[in-house]
Formats: sequence, structure tokens, C-alpha cells
Amino acid sequence: MSDTLWWQHGTIYQIYPRSFQDSNGDGIGDLEGIRQRLPYLIWLGVDAVWISPFYPSPMADFGYDVADYCDVDPIFGTLEDFDRLSADIHKAGMKLILDFVPNHTSDRHPWFQESRISRDSPKRDWYIWRDPAPDGGPPNNWISNFGGSAWQFDEATGQYYYHAFLKEQPDLNWRNPEVRWAMHDALRFWLDRGVDGFRVDVIWHLIKDADLRDNPINPAYEPHQRELNRLLEVHSCDQPEVHEVIAEMRAVLEEYDERVLIGEIYLPIERLMAYYGDDLKGAHLPFNFQLLQSAWDARHIDNLIREYETALPEGGWPNWVLGNHDQARIADRLGPAQARVAALLLLTLRGTPTLYYGDEIGMVQVPIPPERVQDPWEKNEPGLGFNRDPARTPMQWDESAHVGFSTVEPWLPVDHRESNRNVAAQKQDRSSLLCLYKRLLELRRERKALSIGRYVPVTAEGDILAFRREHDEERFLIVLNLGSTTHRLMLDEGVRGHVVLSCLGREAGDELSGTIEIPANEGLVVELAD
Ligand code: NOJ
Repeated sequence: MSDTLWWQHGTIYQIYPRSFQDSNGDGIGDLEGIRQRLPYLIWLGVDAVWISPFYPSPMADFGYDVADYCDVDPIFGTLEDFDRLSADIHKAGMKLILDFVPNHTSDRHPWFQESRISRDSPKRDWYIWRDPAPDGGPPNNWISNFGGSAWQFDEATGQYYYHAFLKEQPDLNWRNPEVRWAMHDALRFWLDRGVDGFRVDVIWHLIKDADLRDNPINPAYEPHQRELNRLLEVHSCDQPEVHEVIAEMRAVLEEYDERVLIGEIYLPIERLMAYYGDDLKGAHLPFNFQLLQSAWDARHIDNLIREYETALPEGGWPNWVLGNHDQARIADRLGPAQARVAALLLLTLRGTPTLYYGDEIGMVQVPIPPERVQDPWEKNEPGLGFNRDPARTPMQWDESAHVGFSTVEPWLPVDHRESNRNVAAQKQDRSSLLCLYKRLLELRRERKALSIGRYVPVTAEGDILAFRREHDEERFLIVLNLGSTTHRLMLDEGVRGHVVLSCLGREAGDELSGTIEIPANEGLVVELAD
């Protein structure tokens, strides 16, 4: 597919390294474990692997609190393990994407250690320090993403520092050019080692209002929501100057060839689009989380696909996400039948798909007994349903005691509730979700219309979502039933086609024309005849 780049026609697979494969029997996954499981990823047919953070870290936020940007935490292995993994990924023709966490460091990072020593420290301005408010309280009303004030008082120097997440995750001051340069060097460290790109953590947070003004009260706040939502995040993120910072990061990647910059951004579509940058000099792929955040309703999803496609800047490449380590598992949200429909949607939409490990076997939220809770967010705001642990449990490889993930009790519980919710069982069963994913990935590789073709909306009603994908002579109709009753779709006069793939196992090759019946939970890829 020489007319597009790898990150445009390829599929990205996200690995949460603590939970993919443990190779040294400590109950926690590691880089060598990922390497040992590469044959699986090759078999599945994904094109790039994104690994969540594995840098040295006190693990207050499981690696999103980085204490050294240029090394590997001993829990996950060594730089040599990394090099071996990277070499094998590349040997298999796949790409490697790292997680870059620039908004904050760990409070154990030497930069912060130096910054906190005194108000005159050369690194003082690398972080966001402010005097207390006149009443001695925090400098403004900003709230941490994990609940509570976003400011932590430091006795030694009598000032507060800002942390958008945990107090163990102080925010860097990206208005300071020295911070930018240091972080660019961290990027180059991995780029020089052959990394193909980065997923950049909370990229829309990097710049805050220069005057740190109070955020306005959110009039729509409801008590079941996270504390963060008490305020509207008007001044604490998504500031205009952030785009310059992103463009500079992108320029670092441009020193190398064909690297990708992906931004983690939770914003509505119109604000998200700004992250492609002026002249597309921002993120190549500002993550599109629309499917994660919307009701599973055909009309609603149809609208958001159209809206997203229309809003894309000229030349901006789309992308779609169904799951990640911060969100409830898709198969839990939708149930097993619609999880198949969702797989078909993810892999037939126009744009780069990102697949979260385990979603391909329909892993669901795993219950976590209170004494085993790990997620710091759950510990800060307990009982409100924010725990991210249930979606981060060990990959289910087989039915053995520790599901083939480890030889000992893993760091989070494993799920034994369904005997076929594992790779070994589903590999044997051609009707499994795993085999559906594999077939879809294969089809996407074989048929350009499905990976890089145009998206053409199709009018449908009720629970039916339909669209076409077209490239040169190839034309496909995608029809999905997001509901629980049979619906009909009338093909236009003279339009004929045959089934290429079906969620419910309808024969490939079946000819279709006129009015077609779409049973509940069906999803069809139909190749249209001319
Ligand atoms: C977003 C990451 O995906 C999440 O896991 C983490 O807790 C926060 N950023 C803070 O880094």
C-alpha cells in the first residue's frame, strides 16, 4: 500500500505491559513476555504495537508517573530486553509505538527532586509552583483528575505545586523552553533506538492558562460524576499555545522518517480537530474516542461518524478507538453479540483502528475484591465506578490457573467465568470473536477499499447503521444491526452484491439485491457488483 503510510492503513494494538505476559514469574507482565507473545500478534494480523509506559517509576499511577524517561523499570526488564523486543517486532514487519508522558513526571524524578529543594533551584521553574492564596489555601480552584485539589502544599519552601493527576505526578511547566528541550531529547533517545512513534499522554493538558485563573463552576454537575466535573476545564487545559508545543514535538519526529505522533485527547469533535495543527503540523492522529463516549445507538453513531468525517481538516487522517486502559471493556458495555458488531464497525470504518489487548477475545470487566484494588483513582474517589482495574486484568491466554499469563498469582485477578474466553479456546473455534477479528484484519489488509477507501454515508433507519467504502473499482457496503430485532434495508435500484463477511455466520458469497433482511446483532460486509 505504497500510496499511504503504515500508520494510515495499519491497525494499532495496545498492550498494557503489566498484564500481557509475565516471563519471570513475579505476577507482573514484562517486555520479554511481550516478545514471547509476538507470534500471536503476527497470527492475529495487527501492524503496530503500542506499549503503555514501562519506564522507571514508583508506580503510583502504574507507570504514568515517570522517574526516568530514558530507561526501563526493572519490573519490566532492561534496555537490552527492549532492544530485543524492538528488533523482533521490526523483523516481523510490525511497528513499535511508545507511550510518552510529558505533562507530568513522578515526584521521584530527579528534576522534581531538584525543583523542590528551594525557590531558587535552577529547576524551580520546570514545574508549576505558586504562593498560597491570601487565606493560605491553594492558588486557584482547579481540581485533580483523580479528585481533590490539584495543588499540593510543600512545607519546605512554603509554596504549592500543581498536579493535574496524583500529587505524586507534578505537572511540568511547558512554558519553559528548557523543559521542552529536555523532553525533545527524551523523544530522540527512543527515536534513535528505532521507535516508530509515540502516543502522547494527555497532550491537551500541556499548557495551562498563563494567569492560572479559576475555572468556572459547571452548572450541569451531578453528584454521581467525578469531582473534576464540578468545574468546567476552561483554563486548565486545551489552551491555544498548546498547538505550538505539539508542532515542536512533531518537528522532532520529522527529523526521522515515517514516525507517528498520536495525541491522547478527550475533547468534543470541533475542538479535537485543532490538534491536527495548522497545515497538519500537529498530531498525525488526535485520538478519536467518540465511540467510547457515545450511546450504542445506530442513529447517534451514524451522526457522529458523519460529523467526524465532515469536521476533519483537508488531508487529516481519521482514527477510531473502542477501548483502552482507562475505559470499561467494550464487550462488557455492549454484551457478546454487539461486541462482534463493534469489531466489524471498528475494522471497517475509514481511519486507523486501535485495538485494546483482550478486546479481541471479548474480555469483560473483571470484579476486583476491595482488598485487591490497585487503581489510585479508585482509592481517591472510591465506590463511584471509576476503578480502572477491571479493564486492566491479565490477558487470558488459556484456561489454566493463571490463564497462561503467569506461573504465580498475578497482580490483578484473572477471569475464569467463561471457559472459552481465552485465546487457546477461540483459536480452535472458527465462530469465535477472535476468529472474527482475525478475518476482519485479514480482509482489511487484502482490500484497499476497507483500509484506505472513501467513506460514503448510506441512509438507513432504526437500529441499522450503513455506509460504503470505495477505492478504485472496489466497493463495499457495510450494514450493521445495533439492535435486538430484525430490520430491513432496501438497496438502491440495480444495486447488487454478495456477502464477504457476516457477524452471525451467514455464508460468504450469498447474493444480495432489493430489500435485505438484517437479523438482530448482524453485521455484514457486502462487496458490491458494478
Ligand atoms: C492518561 C492515561 O491514559 C491514564 O492511565 C493516566 O492515569 C493519566 N493519563 C495520567 O497520566
